[in-house]
Parts: sequence; C-alpha cells; structure tokens
Amino acid sequence: MPKRKRNKKIKKGRGRPRKKVIKERKHKVKYVPHLLRGVRDILPEDQSYFQYVLKQAEILAESYNFQRIDTPIIEERELFEKGIGQSTDIVEKQMFTFTDKGKTKVCLRPEGTAPIVRAYLEHGMFNLSQPIKVYYSGPMFRRERPQSGRYRQFYQFGLEVIGSDKPVIDAEIISFAYSLFDALKIDVLIKVNSIGCSECRKAYRRKLVSYLRSKRNKLCKDCQRRLKTNPLRILDCKNPDCQRIIKKAPQVVDWLCENCRQHFVRVLEYLDELKIPYSLDPYLVRGLDYYTRTVFEVWPTRKSLETNFALGGGGRYDNLIKMFSNRDIPACGVAFGIDRIVEELKAEKIKIPKKKAPQIFIAQIGEFARQKALRIFETLRREKFRVVENFSKDSLRTQLELADKLKAKYTLIIGQDEAHNETIIVRDMTSGSQETIDQEKIVKEMRKRLR
Ligand code: HAM
Repeated sequence: MPKRKRNKKIKKGRGRPRKKVIKERKHKVKYVPHLLRGVRDILPEDQSYFQYVLKQAEILAESYNFQRIDTPIIEERELFEKGIGQSTDIVEKQMFTFTDKGKTKVCLRPEGTAPIVRAYLEHGMFNLSQPIKVYYSGPMFRRERPQSGRYRQFYQFGLEVIGSDKPVIDAEIISFAYSLFDALKIDVLIKVNSIGCSECRKAYRRKLVSYLRSKRNKLCKDCQRRLKTNPLRILDCKNPDCQRIIKKAPQVVDWLCENCRQHFVRVLEYLDELKIPYSLDPYLVRGLDYYTRTVFEVWPTRKSLETNFALGGGGRYDNLIKMFSNRDIPACGVAFGIDRIVEELKAEKIKIPKKKAPQIFIAQIGEFARQKALRIFETLRREKFRVVENFSKDSLRTQLELADKLKAKYTLIIGQDEAHNETIIVRDMTSGSQETIDQEKIVKEMRKRLR
C-alpha cells in the first residue's frame, strides 16, 4: 500500500485500535444467537402496556364472576386437529407440531378454547354447578406469515362459559368485550352474525356451494379446494377476488332454522337492551370450525390503520364438547389479542396510568456508606415506601441527578461520616433543604414527612 494512503487511514483514527482488533479476533465467536422469525421479545418499556391491558381484563373478568384457569402451552396434536377442524388455516398451515422423545405427537397451543374444554372434561367440571365461567391469558402459537400485528407467538386473554345454551350468555360475553374496550378507551366496532346449528347449516351449505360452483374459476386455488372440503371457510378468505364473489353470496342468516333464528334475535335484543352498538355482518364465519350460532369479532374503528386486524373474536361452540365425549354441553367464549390491543393503544396515543414516582431515593458515597445504605433501603422497602437506589454509582452528583429525573420527593444521603455516626441526611428535593437525623429514626421521620 503506498505510504500516503496508509497515513491517511491513521489520521482518520482507523489504524489505532489494531491491538484490540487482534485481541478480539483471538476470541472466536462460534454462535451468535438470533430471534426466530415471526416471534419477538417484549422489552421492559412495553411491559407496562401489556400488564395494563391484562390487569384491566382481569379486573373486569373478576367483576363478571369469572375464575382464572391455566392450561399448559403444550397439548396433544389431535385436540386441535379435531377441535378446530382439519381444513382450517390453523390446522392445515399454522400449527407448531412435533413428535417428542416419547413418540407423542404434540403441538404448541394455537388457541385456548380446545384446551379449556379438555380440562373441563378431564376434571369432571360438568359435576359442578353450571355454567362454569373461566378466564385465561398466555402465549399462543401460530406459524403465520410474519407481519406487524400477526405474530407466531402472541398473547391472548380469553373467557369461556361452559354449560349454558341461553342467548343471554352470548350477550354477556359481547358485553364484556364492549366494556373492556370502553375501559381501555379504544373505539371499536362489534360485528355479529349467526351461522346456525349443524342442521340449518346443511341447507345453507348446499345453496352456497351451488352459488360458488358457478364462480369456481374466479376463486383462488385454496378456495377451489375448500369448495370440496369446507365451503364455509371460503367466506373467511381475504383474497380480493374471492372477496368480490363472497359479497354476492347467499347469506347464512336467511337459512337459519326457527330455534337458531329465535336464539339470534334474543341475543340482539339483549345487546339493544344494554345499548351496545353492533353491526350485522352476514358473511362473518370466523376461522375455526367449532362455532355454532352466534359469532362475533371486535374491530378497531381507526381509519388510518394500514393493517386492519380484529382485536378479538368469539362465539358459541355448542358441539365441541360432544366431539370429545358423550356429553351434549353447550358453550360460548371470546379471546382478545393482547399484542394488537397494545399496538392500538400506542398508535392512538392512548395514555396508560404511569407508575407512581418514587418517594425516596437513597444515595451513598463510599463502600462503607453503601453497606449501610443497602440496609436502610431494605428497611424502607419492607415498610412499603416507594424507594429506589442506584448502588452501582459512586458520584453523589450523578445520584442526585438521577433522583431528580425520577422525581423522588426526598433523597437520603449517607457519606462516610454519616455511616460511622449512624446518621443520615434527609434532602427535600423540591426546596433543596437538608437535615441530618439518626438512622434509627428514619422510618418515623419519613412517615411524618410523606403523610
Ligand atoms: P381467534 O379469532 O383465532 O379466536 O383469535 C382471537 C384473537 O387473537 C384475534 O382476534 C386476534 O386479536 C388475536 N390473534 C390471533 N392470531 C394472532 C396472531 N398471529 N398474532 C397476533 N394476534 C393474533 C380464538 O382463538 C378463539 N379461541 C376465541 C374463542 C374463545 N372462541 C370461543 N372462545
């Protein structure tokens, strides 16, 4: 390399850290870990949003007399294959399935309803007073095409009411959904439909198939296949060409049997009674096969949404328990996508309650003082003060700046002298005034000041 060029490099400062580069090279990194595609970390700055939504949902669920239930994230594959339906997108394309070392075919749960039904049967909950009302939250797994708002691991909060066929239950669950978004201050639209029971759906299916057959060539490849396997799924297709055809398809509500029609009318009457705004969507069928009668989805009304996704969805599933047992037990439920709700809160700049500012910051100077400060921190924390520290810092100035930034009301300062004299300086962060008191009086003193 010509001399001039090399000098130029050194001037720019690129030549200097040679030694370090050589050192780094010696330490060979064999494996650099990466996040898997479609999943994400929920970092501390987002935790407050997630916790806030979950807390609101939990408080509401308790107020509606639901009890918490937790099921494992791993289940037998067949539970979902049978429960959700072989020809649904979830079972066909999205399940994380594998055979474990004991040769059991297992699956990461893609949703919470089928596991709750399994738990209901396995624990003989049908012997309890009916209906049982449970809520749950946790991660679900679907291997979808990753995009904003659609994750391979996402979080749901859900409710299930098992053991009643009364339309008032459907209305109560929809009312819960409405109240949740009201509490979160998110404007939503609730879309409702009835897809009837298996009997009235037979007649509708025939009508639908005959209509769709006439448009077969214009349907996407998936829907051409679904025409044979599960024509109702076509109504759920997001392909624009299929959407155009669906818009003119026969509507399932026109084919409801008298009992299903009555049931749907009652649900809507209850919603009117509660003054819950909803819109009838004659083509809403939902993406899971277990639904019967009422189905609904909760959609954000925000116009600027680039990717518009449902924030929640649910409905009645009167045949699911019969599928796994000889018991004919009706049920109804809903699940909400926590990730999407958090994104909505952020996009709409909806403020969530902030964590309360600390009352006390503990600052220390020197190793012996740090030891004493640690003890005082523990004492105040046990006495339920909102107390913070940064024991890794040495400079008093840095610690006072931090206390200021955190908006602490008081800073307690312990230097070497105070540590030896068993005293402590109480600094009022608003006025800047300081007072030295005995360490043993600190709890009483702070109680008095913060009263
Ligand atoms: P689902 O409509 O499949 O219903 O999911 C419920 C909600 O979970 C969706 O509305 C959406 O907000 C969220 N969600 C679904 N997939 C994803 C994803 N890939 N990424 C982010 N969020 C997602 C069920 O799961 C039924 N088990 C609901 C139910 C309960 N029906 C009766 N009981």
